[in-house]
Amino acid sequence: MKKAIRHPPITKCPHILHGGDYNPEQWLTWKDTIWPEDMRLAKLAGVNSLTVGIFSWAALEPSEETYQFAWLDEVMDMLAENGMTAVLATPSGARPAWLSEKYPEVLRVNRNRSKNLHGERHNHCLTSPVYREKVTRINTLLAERYRDHPALGLWHVSNEYGGECHCPLCQARFREWLKNRYKTLDALNAAWWTSFWSHTYTSWEQIESPSELGDTNLHGLNLSWRRFTSDQFIDFYLCETAPLKKITPAVPCTTNLMGPYMGIDSFKLAKVMDVISWDNYPNWHGTDQDAAWEGMHISFNQDMNRGFKDKPFLMMESSPSATNWQPTAKLRRPGVHTLQSLQAIAHGSDSVQYFQFRKGRGASEKFHGAVVDHEGTENTRVFRDVAELGARLKTMDPIVGCSTPAGVALIFDWENAWALGDARGFLQQNTAYDRTVIEHYSAFWKQAVPVDIIESTRSFEGYDIIVAPMLYMLRRDDAGICVAEKIAEFVKNGGTFVATYISGYVDEDDLAFSGGFPGPLREVLGIWAEEIDSLYPEDRNSFIWKDKNYAVHEFCELVHPRGAEVLAKYGSDFYAGRGALTVNKYGKGSAYFMAARTYTDFLDDFYRDLVDRRGIKRVIEAPLPPGVTAQVRSDGKKEYVFVMNFSPVPAGVDTGFAGKKELAPWEVLVLEREQR
Ligand code: GLA
Ligand code: ZN
Repeated sequence: MKKAIRHPPITKCPHILHGGDYNPEQWLTWKDTIWPEDMRLAKLAGVNSLTVGIFSWAALEPSEETYQFAWLDEVMDMLAENGMTAVLATPSGARPAWLSEKYPEVLRVNRNRSKNLHGERHNHCLTSPVYREKVTRINTLLAERYRDHPALGLWHVSNEYGGECHCPLCQARFREWLKNRYKTLDALNAAWWTSFWSHTYTSWEQIESPSELGDTNLHGLNLSWRRFTSDQFIDFYLCETAPLKKITPAVPCTTNLMGPYMGIDSFKLAKVMDVISWDNYPNWHGTDQDAAWEGMHISFNQDMNRGFKDKPFLMMESSPSATNWQPTAKLRRPGVHTLQSLQAIAHGSDSVQYFQFRKGRGASEKFHGAVVDHEGTENTRVFRDVAELGARLKTMDPIVGCSTPAGVALIFDWENAWALGDARGFLQQNTAYDRTVIEHYSAFWKQAVPVDIIESTRSFEGYDIIVAPMLYMLRRDDAGICVAEKIAEFVKNGGTFVATYISGYVDEDDLAFSGGFPGPLREVLGIWAEEIDSLYPEDRNSFIWKDKNYAVHEFCELVHPRGAEVLAKYGSDFYAGRGALTVNKYGKGSAYFMAARTYTDFLDDFYRDLVDRRGIKRVIEAPLPPGVTAQVRSDGKKEYVFVMNFSPVPAGVDTGFAGKKELAPWEVLVLEREQR
């Protein structure tokens, strides 16, 4: 179990940040009435922070090198006067029309090599020297202007980085990136297995980014392009933050991430970010019931964001009501706003921030949820929900900076997801990596065991159990150590490791391991996986474990024990009687292998047994009703226990330390106890 500690507050504001995106430039014409009203309403709602400037470039620089900061000066002063912490954005998320008109190189080129027109947002070329120069200039001016401003608490760099650009500038930069990684064309040809379909490159210039018009089947190329695009965002972030770091070294920087967005390796980007922040938009009350999926799935996302830096983070955006882009804009049921918000805090967020404070009157987001509706007053259900939460958050100062002491780590790895997503065979590109990882997570969530989400190359220190579903790719960390070696070391020293089917198939170049799967994990797992049977949707197999029969579906791997003990055997088909679940004693620890894809009934039973055997503490020991979890934050002295009911029916919970509690539908209790 990792030790509980208290981290310093993320910004100079020592409270849970409560607020969100605020676009006063959309109300410039009415600023004398609307802005003061915004401040009145913000205070009434218990808002202590607003994020400004996100898409303000055209308002700040209406024509090239003509700047207009007066309105932002006024906004920043107003925030300071009203005791608000300003989260100040750099405006690169959307650019003024003059910029695209004068410098068309900033326009993105798509995979099909078509060039975008000016428009939308988040669509610049990542390489364009002009774009980088313009961004550097405006960021420098912002930093110089507000460096000593009392409201400035945090830099919000751009907005939701994403997408990719295939323009000639990016192609050239990609080739540079490849030269840097592979040094020689021979090495690249070898790593990409280019003798396949006569793909051998004889000059760097022949290499083009993947495209349906060209190559999509050269996995080394695909993987390199993914890595390159991800690195380009990191490089762009560094370019954006360089002036901020130089001029305001004490002000932390973040960029708002999009949960498990696959376009950028967020673990890698996190290394250059001071603070993690992310945008949370659950689909509450959908066909996947909150209790059965959404509540748990969002917990996973929250834990993942804490995992990026193993620290408290910010929930930078969430909707206080419906969104405008989900298929169905269903209203939040009473209590759900508080539940969604405190859920974030339960998993390590030190903020509840919204998109957005006041609804704009035009364009596509005019019906997106906001704290202040078109009606314009505090007399709405949503406003009351926000204000009620605001009052509750004011009592939560002691939670700011508290850590999450977890004894279990679950591996979720971007590079693994990229390679696995590309793999042909199996169930084609539907191996359901995300869903599988989340299903393993759910078994811990249901029994109130905190879990850290880590990438495969992260340190395993402090954990008792490491779970690595479908770790198809075994790559090396920065020191050149293969993940398999780290796993073996972890188990040898007494750790418990759990792996599944489709593990240890390829190395970091996406080349299949020779000598049998699961590649370099064969010894620690004590097995050889000879073949894998991918099943049609209606196919089932089964196994019996601890006298209970479990159905399996989709994947049945056929393994030979090579030292491992068989704990459960397949019940049917030509491999009936062969091992479906194995354990290998290795050094002082154990390594389990689930050869088949089970349903969550097995995962629940298996991990409950494992948690008992490893003596891992549950936040609440008694079994919880369906849809209820308990999570904890701790500073090492006090624990703050969040008991959350994601189901639409009341739930009785025996907390042990605080007696029996009855939770209303979607209710959250926050309880305190001394550190155990
Ligand atoms: C994203 C963006 C915001 C806004 C919201 C709407 O998260 O960052 O600018 O468009 O979506 O849900
Ligand atoms: Zn480009």
